[in-house]
Amino acid sequence: MGDISVGMQTPLATTRADLPSLMPFMPHPIQTLKFAVLAGDYIGPEVMAEALRVLKHVAQLENFALDATAADVGGAGIDHHGKALPDSTVKLCEQSDAILFGSVGGPKWEKLPPKEQPERAALLPLRKHFTLFANLRPGLLYRELTDASPLKRERIPDGIDIVCIRELTGGVYFGLPKETKTLPDGDIQAVDTMVYKKSEIERILQVAITTARARKKKLCSVDKANVLETSVLWRKTVTDYCAKHTPDLALTHMYVDNAAMQLARDPNQFDVFVTENMFGDILSDEMAVICGSLGMLSSASLGAGKNSLGLPFGLYEPAGGTAPDIAGQGIANPCAQILSAALMLRYSFGLEKTAQRIEAAVRQAVTSGTRTGDIAFGKPSVGTRAMADAVIANLG
Ligand code: IPM
Ligand code: MG
Repeated sequence: MGDISVGMQTPLATTRADLPSLMPFMPHPIQTLKFAVLAGDYIGPEVMAEALRVLKHVAQLENFALDATAADVGGAGIDHHGKALPDSTVKLCEQSDAILFGSVGGPKWEKLPPKEQPERAALLPLRKHFTLFANLRPGLLYRELTDASPLKRERIPDGIDIVCIRELTGGVYFGLPKETKTLPDGDIQAVDTMVYKKSEIERILQVAITTARARKKKLCSVDKANVLETSVLWRKTVTDYCAKHTPDLALTHMYVDNAAMQLARDPNQFDVFVTENMFGDILSDEMAVICGSLGMLSSASLGAGKNSLGLPFGLYEPAGGTAPDIAGQGIANPCAQILSAALMLRYSFGLEKTAQRIEAAVRQAVTSGTRTGDIAFGKPSVGTRAMADAVIANLG
């Protein structure tokens, strides 16, 4: 084995350009990393191949083994098994310690009824099935890439380094009733229901607190407590819990409409923000655009359950989607997928140091000038494979 257990003792710096570990120590050293590979559609398999190449390289360097099994999901699931989330895929995930996910959906399946489309019929049931309630989305823009952001450089002289913690299995996405019906007068009515329990709010809050403590000890809770009952409960629960358990944190509250504005005005005023499912969906897309390229943003969705190592089971995916317009050309940016693999090592396998090693290699590759088209600003760019080659070269 390499020195992988050392990573779990890594002190958590106050300002880190990535996400800190949520686990204070490793229960036991890992020999084999067992995970499911759900590459999905369009650029999904292209960038996944590169992330796996990086993982294989680092596994060789650090002397651990990979037990990675691929399965169909999304459009590939529909085409080969008749549904976006085939039973065999769920079974494979159940037998794994983590899921490395690509991205799903695209024009090929757009004519299907909304409920059968890859995004809704694969991703949401996976989240629910594994209770992946904590979605961590780092909003990271390297200083050297500030030109990629639509924000003026003077607003982000040192880039952006914030984290969105989004509740992922509650709220209006899953609340019942959820239906469309014809009323007696012939009009049509659709209903979605926003529901939150105190326990669900406390559960996501605990993840946010751990993350905030490992960074700048600043936490902003985002809600719409001037209008919504769920937000009134959200704010009261956060306020009470933090008053009791986290006097060390600077806690603030912000209405979601104001948060959307503040993100565009001065993103670094946030360090960690926590919010409910739909607000997090919207704000994290805004965060992605101010960070320049979707091709750089990773995410972790952590489960309530533990894997066979006693660490959080999780699904790790890039934020960028399937990018059908550039699929098959070998030009997609693989960095978000590679960084998602790093998050998997950190959270589901406890390999903090290895995760940092990959993150540093990506950063070094990009900042030293190897860039795919999305972050090249008109300068010569490289393809998917060459980008990953540069990352691998920097791993040592
Ligand atoms: C996301 C996506 C999903 C969501 C879609 C694809 C269902 O937008 O992960 O942010 O809304 O959660
Ligand atoms: Mg979204």
